[in-house]
Amino acid sequence: MPDTFRTPQGTFDVLPPESRAYESLVARFARRARAAGYGLVISPTFEDVGVFQRVGESTDVVRKEMYDFYDKGDPPRHLALRPEGTASVVRAFVQHRPVLPWKTWYVAPSFRYERAQAGRYRQHHQLGVEVLGTEDPLLDAEVIALLDGFYRELPLRQVTLHLNSLGDDTCRPAYRAELEAFLAARADQLCDEHRDRFRDNPLRVLDCKQPDCLAATEDAPWQLDRLCGPCTAHFAQVREGLDELGVGFSIDKRLVRGLDYYTRTTFEFTAGALESAQNAVGGGGRYDKLAEDLGGPPTPGIGFGTGLERLRMACAAEHVDLVGPSPVDAFVVDTTGGLAALVLAQRLRSAGIPTDRAWDGRSFKAQFKLADRSGARVAVIVGPDEAGRGVVAIKPLRGGEQVEVPDELVVTRVREMIDAED
Ligand code: HAM
Repeated sequence: MPDTFRTPQGTFDVLPPESRAYESLVARFARRARAAGYGLVISPTFEDVGVFQRVGESTDVVRKEMYDFYDKGDPPRHLALRPEGTASVVRAFVQHRPVLPWKTWYVAPSFRYERAQAGRYRQHHQLGVEVLGTEDPLLDAEVIALLDGFYRELPLRQVTLHLNSLGDDTCRPAYRAELEAFLAARADQLCDEHRDRFRDNPLRVLDCKQPDCLAATEDAPWQLDRLCGPCTAHFAQVREGLDELGVGFSIDKRLVRGLDYYTRTTFEFTAGALESAQNAVGGGGRYDKLAEDLGGPPTPGIGFGTGLERLRMACAAEHVDLVGPSPVDAFVVDTTGGLAALVLAQRLRSAGIPTDRAWDGRSFKAQFKLADRSGARVAVIVGPDEAGRGVVAIKPLRGGEQVEVPDELVVTRVREMIDAED
């Protein structure tokens, strides 16, 4: 294969059996989201570039990392691949105006032209939720607890929740001006990137991991100490809700996150088992102005995204087994030509018993080897002798007696034998 055909830098294939870990993460997340009343949203992978620019002109995601392109239209349209999930869902809300509150979840690829390294890819996949239509701080607690519960169920144990409030239009502008003046007085002490650019978004400097910026901002003013009355009350209720649900958190005054739309509650989960540069497994917060920015009515919102790849890495680092036992319980071995296996496998599958079989008319021995390798618990065997007598043999593959049952009882008996093993 020519080298250029290989997966582009920063992307990779996920193949079986590794993909079962991803499947398991998506299935568990879907179950949890559905149980809490969230509905799936599927939106286009590309949108007008303006939709994504609303996540913030000063963010790296928009300034440096967007995969934007012109299509073949006349005139051509300026489009971009989705760099994150929130803007698309809020755009869908503005376009369709569903009944509020609108509780949604998604699993979607996201594209960012980042410097590729472990845990940082040019295509990653996010599981997320977005809720539009209420400012209720107890919703913030529900949303955060949903993600916390998902991690705990896996179970990831070394995950820490960091929490902050970034204020609103009442208290943020004055704070931002104060922070900007503070940074201006220390501009020469900031890291190379922020020395000249801190005015674009002074809050980002607080999140900078460079030692220079960390030292220079040690005594910085914090938004959390300068919240207005309503934001203070809102944040207190978020914390109270989390306390009631038994969700532990630590307040992190530096947490500002990499997207500009956040207001009030912001949060991030870090995985202790991962390298600190890429240890954020999930994050989110409120974005009470984003719907308006996208041309909709004033509509508060909150959500989060958690990256499947980082989640997978965190699970591996904590030795969490996401895959569990074999994907099939039964394996049909057919030496009558294959037609019997076609029908038997379908009957077993229709009865909810995961089943596989061999192909190409292989020998009994070869088929049996495949049955063993499949990890199935029982082999369902039909040879010319069994077929002639209308029976099927069932052999437990992890020890136990082979039995023979009439063809019509095969599903019942296979199920009994599988259940007996559990
Ligand atoms: P984010 O923090 O940029 O937030 O991304 C969410 C998660 O996606 C991260 O915690 C990380 O697990 C994963 N992630 C991000 N970039 C990469 C990458 N290059 N490679 C691998 N994984 C990555 C958002 O995107 C917001 N939309 C979250 C949100 C939803 N806020 C409100 N609602």
